[in-house]
Amino acid sequence: MNPSNLTNSSNPIYSFSPTGEKFQLPSPEDYAKEFERLKELVNSHRSLGREIVVVMGLGFVGAVMAAVVADAQDGNGNPAKFVIGMQRPSTRSFWKIPLMNLGLSPISTEDPEVAFIIGRCVNQKKTLTATFTYDALKFADVVIVDVQCDYLKESLGNVKDGRAEMEALEESFEIIAQNISPQTLVLIETTVAPGTTEQIAYPIMKKVFKRRGVTSDPLLAHSFERVMPGKNYVASIRDFWRVCSGVNEGATRRVVKFLNEVINTEKYPLTVLDRPIESETAKIVENSFRATILAFLDEWSLFAERNGVDLIKVISAIKARPTHSNIMFPGPGIGGYCLPKDGGLGLWAYHHIHGFEDDIFKITPLAIDINDTRALHVAQLTRDALRNMGRPLASAEVLVLGASYREDIGDTRYSGSELIVRRLTEMGAELRVHDPYVLHWWEFEKQDEYPATSHGLKRFFRGQEKLKDLRVDQDLKRALYGADALILAVRHKPYLTLNPDEVVRDAGGPIAVIDCFGILDDAKIKRYFELGCEVKGLGRGHVKRIKDQVRLNTEGVE
Ligand SMILES: NC(=O)c1ccc[n+]([C@@H]2O[C@H](COP(=O)([O-])OP(=O)(O)OC[C@H]3O[C@@H](n4cnc5c(N)ncnc54)[C@H](O)[C@@H]3O)[C@@H](O)[C@H]2O)c1
Repeated sequence: MNPSNLTNSSNPIYSFSPTGEKFQLPSPEDYAKEFERLKELVNSHRSLGREIVVVMGLGFVGAVMAAVVADAQDGNGNPAKFVIGMQRPSTRSFWKIPLMNLGLSPISTEDPEVAFIIGRCVNQKKTLTATFTYDALKFADVVIVDVQCDYLKESLGNVKDGRAEMEALEESFEIIAQNISPQTLVLIETTVAPGTTEQIAYPIMKKVFKRRGVTSDPLLAHSFERVMPGKNYVASIRDFWRVCSGVNEGATRRVVKFLNEVINTEKYPLTVLDRPIESETAKIVENSFRATILAFLDEWSLFAERNGVDLIKVISAIKARPTHSNIMFPGPGIGGYCLPKDGGLGLWAYHHIHGFEDDIFKITPLAIDINDTRALHVAQLTRDALRNMGRPLASAEVLVLGASYREDIGDTRYSGSELIVRRLTEMGAELRVHDPYVLHWWEFEKQDEYPATSHGLKRFFRGQEKLKDLRVDQDLKRALYGADALILAVRHKPYLTLNPDEVVRDAGGPIAVIDCFGILDDAKIKRYFELGCEVKGLGRGHVKRIKDQVRLNTEGVE
């Protein structure tokens, strides 16, 4: 099946990688050639007794999962699988295919194993290739679905006003059923609205099978990913506990066998649940739990700011108690692809898959709404810090350190920093951004398309047009020069060791410093005050005490 946006020599269409490399989308003639290339590869790997695994969607999860499977060995230490990573050739994502086929990782991360394992499987073991054609599905013994399932919010801070975007996923199930052999195991890893595997995927595939004259049931299973992009990216897929379930006994048997072959289940045993809806619910509940414990600290963060309390120290005191070791400081909101949306998929499923009318969800949506808007408070702190220095925000140059949603990765999806930039822009400030892992902040550069057409956060703020020109600076010194305010938004490694004297020197004078993530210790806060700066921080009410002390000392000296 070919995509609608076909390219040809008179009308070439390109896909650009984040580093600016340009790749032409495939033309109609390329499909037949690609099919032959895959056929040849599949035949040679089959002759070596390897299973053929197609991973659909080479995103943050699929690209690395594909490499983990391609790296798996049989009992004799030989490669057990041949993996075809299948990615639709959209202008936004096609570049991932040629890049992976060069053995290069499409993901920028702190974990060196990501690039290493992709390079090894593509170039040395030759157990991994990437393609744009759905024809790859025809060869599959196993299909792993790693495409996205978005939750589209219609308002800021009200997750109930939104819906699961099922169309792409539903289309994928249809395409899979049209192409696979009836014995193929289809493993859904996508985080879905609970009920999707049995009540959406199964009937779609069954109908297509019927049309094809296939009488057997689709072998469908669900096993969600717990990947943590960051320092342990690969290990969080391969060396981590998994939950799975199949729609019937055959599917359950197959998914258990497959996961035992590719994941380190000896050390991290599998949990097999009775029905896919239980595996789907487990994913949604575990992420809603995390969103909730983070959101819960938002009110204590404000309490701390208004009552001279350092929430960072309070949290580390509580953490010493083993029963409370997972208490976490929320930073400027909870971004990433999963936590802001997963609870929404649950609420949506309750009404739109299972047909209930009543409103049972209180805590889950409230947590998401709090997390989705927490970053707005950073704009207030910036405004107040600048005001204390006698500088109006509306004519200030504000530098945000960190565009990613968490430390040491280059993933900007729903990051708190985006909201900070949008609100401060609306309030009239001029924004600059630095991030060592992010080359392009597409949420701004292509803000009418990212993260989805007409569903970007731009809608909720005024005066956003100029943010199309916002570029991420890789040179911290240059970014600092002339800044009036510095927002420490992400705990990226280079930011943890910033020296106040150097910051003030590079900025060209005292600045306002806003610490969103407990990055500054008391000695640094004190030094910033001594240098004539103003400091504020989320949950850091004690800075006022340090400021008063510095003033007292200075006055004492005079
Ligand atoms: N990113 C994470 O940290 C994480 C963690 C755990 C679970 N998950 C879940 O894993 C799933 C995938 O997430 P992701 O972060 O990899 O998303 P992503 O957007 O990075 O990747 C999805 C990829 O699928 C491709 N795609 C979409 N439709 C396709 C189709 N019909 N055929 C082939 N390719 C198609 C897209 O172009 C994209 O490259 C989601 O359900 C997500 O919630 C993500």
